[in-house]
Amino acid sequence: MSPPINGPLIDSHGRVHTDLRISVTDRCNFRCVYCMPEEGVPFLPRAELLTFEEITRVATIAHRLGVRSVRFTGGEPLVRRDLVDLVAMVAGVGFDDVALTTNGTGLARLAPRLADAGLRRVNVSCDSLRPERFSRIRRRGDLATVLAAMDAAESAGLTPLKVNVVAIAGVNDDEVEDFGAFARRTGREVRFIEFMPLDAPGSWQRDQVVAAADILARLHARWPLEAVVDPGDPAPAERYRFQDGGGTIGVVASVTRPFCGTCNRLRLTADGAVRNCLFANADAERSVRDLLRGGADDAEVEAVLRRAVWDKLPGHAINDPGFLRPARSMSMIGG
Ligand code: 5AD
Ligand code: SF4
Repeated sequence: MSPPINGPLIDSHGRVHTDLRISVTDRCNFRCVYCMPEEGVPFLPRAELLTFEEITRVATIAHRLGVRSVRFTGGEPLVRRDLVDLVAMVAGVGFDDVALTTNGTGLARLAPRLADAGLRRVNVSCDSLRPERFSRIRRRGDLATVLAAMDAAESAGLTPLKVNVVAIAGVNDDEVEDFGAFARRTGREVRFIEFMPLDAPGSWQRDQVVAAADILARLHARWPLEAVVDPGDPAPAERYRFQDGGGTIGVVASVTRPFCGTCNRLRLTADGAVRNCLFANADAERSVRDLLRGGADDAEVEAVLRRAVWDKLPGHAINDPGFLRPARSMSMIGG
């Protein structure tokens, strides 16, 4: 079967795609233990990266096809030179929401300019509130800089600010309550992300996954929680509010409670591949870069987007015995 030639971006299972994640670089100034080896990985040559004009063109076509929100990811998006200019170009397309996921290092300096360029909000990754442990997990950077970046982002109006915490058993799972207290104290939405099998073979073990249900049970025992019900929100995070009004927290239960059935996401990698899933294998990627560079018209690019979405599998099958990890790590796909 072929995708429809008009209407929204729909897959063969009926899921409409309205969210585009744009990876702007595969480079990163950190080397988080769960993402990159200490010595780094071979990075894409600059010529293989989409230019700002090329990214904006894809975003414009996606917008015409019903995409309403975009998020910039990496690697670390803020290491892409002149990212502020790209944010302005893409924000100018007219999306309802323009967000960015960052490790926080360059954010304190750039937050006001990013906000002026049209960025609405940021997610900052922070896997520990203990300085030594933070540096051990992320191998570079320091906690104080990232906490200062959160303050700067809020001052610049990049709110609501969300804090991504990858929960790993035996590494930082003793900080669940500390992060709960942090969420309550700061009003930031802490989102615990289940550790996913994405990076180099050998560095993910099933017993390292901290189940979202366990995290919620621990928080609930301390501060009773209630689910935030928003049927219109397909976001992967399940959100909960503290019953006493202390704010909200979220869990992204990709492993134990996959949300593939309501997934509305589409991804564009830094080198111009359209991916329909974080866990898609390389043969399911469709590059638009050569089309963009070869003088293709919008209809041809549109056809690739439609086909990429149409072919999306019903689920990621992480839990199936035959599951194969994608060859690209998070830094190469974008979170
Ligand atoms: N599992 C879960 N989360 C991951 N991230 C990177 N790799 C993984 C993984 N294997 C997180 C980052 C960042 C977001 C983009 O994804 O820490 O918060
Ligand atoms: Fe960089 Fe993010 Fe990977 Fe850490 S998880 S190395 S911050 S891309």
